[in-house]
Amino acid sequence: HSVGIIGAPFWKGQPKDGVEKGPDLIRSTGLVEKLKGQGCSVRDYGNLKFEHVPDDQPIEKVQRPRSVGHANKQLADAVHMIKKDGHTCVLLGGDHSLAIGSILGHAASQKELCVVWVDAHADINTPTTTLTGNMHGQPVSFLIREFHSKIPVMPGFSWIKPCISAQDIVYIGLRDVDPAEHYILKHLGIKFFSMTDVDRLGIAKVMEETCDHIFSKGKRPIHLSYDIDALDPSVSPATGTPVMGGLTYREGIYITEQICQTGMLSALDVVEVNPKMARAEEEISSTAKTAVDVILGCFGRVREGSHTPDYHMP
Ligand code: ARG
Ligand code: MN
Ligand code: MN
Repeated sequence: HSVGIIGAPFWKGQPKDGVEKGPDLIRSTGLVEKLKGQGCSVRDYGNLKFEHVPDDQPIEKVQRPRSVGHANKQLADAVHMIKKDGHTCVLLGGDHSLAIGSILGHAASQKELCVVWVDAHADINTPTTTLTGNMHGQPVSFLIREFHSKIPVMPGFSWIKPCISAQDIVYIGLRDVDPAEHYILKHLGIKFFSMTDVDRLGIAKVMEETCDHIFSKGKRPIHLSYDIDALDPSVSPATGTPVMGGLTYREGIYITEQICQTGMLSALDVVEVNPKMARAEEEISSTAKTAVDVILGCFGRVREGSHTPDYHMP
């Protein structure tokens, strides 16, 4: 695997401070060294620098729209470049509003991509349905073609053109979905596996059905958008909107192993790691370690262990 890493220390898609520390925390947990240790070639493109956007007044309920729009444009350009350089792109967030830029930048280099969205939340509110005004609860609404007419024009967002169809996204891990979001999921016929579905089917069947769904029209590049709050708070406590009853560590890693197995992973987001939400130092390190393990699973780490073809018994 050839991996290109981009950090986006961005928090303005939600109100809690600390999520901008995610990229450096994940790096300091040994991400690059561990990827190289499992045979990946790695280029770290560093962190994006986001300029302050003055007078970023709310539009109706939506908080800091111009900042979110501009940051995502920067990110989209960076992801596009990393894809042109031939890497699988890894975005270290930052909050989940960054999926707008990550997926649009990815789509600019790769037509016909599909999205696997692993999250406790559906993040498909529109600027009109949002209850919180936070943009990290809305990114998917900007990306879906069938929905374009429902999205109001907002400053900072004029560059955005939706790039996926409703049948090109699958959710895994849902357990905190707003009424309007549930309506949208049902209305557009979007495929999702809530935690109830994970309980009923088991994670193996969920991944089988996920791959059947995204590859129904043939194999396509995958964008995996992994919100760390998909995992149970006992596994990843350091996050801004934790919800009980999440994926176990094993289920969370199994998802990455299966995505890796498809050979079609083309971009990955790991978002919403927030060290300031931890109640103890240990919660910071365990969440960061989990985030790193998610990434390693996406790039070939297998739990049975492995050895190179030139291995010789000592
Ligand atoms: N549904 C809520 C909202 O729209 C929560 C979203 C949480 N999103 C996240 N990326 N953690 O505000
Ligand atoms: Mn979430
Ligand atoms: Mn999310």
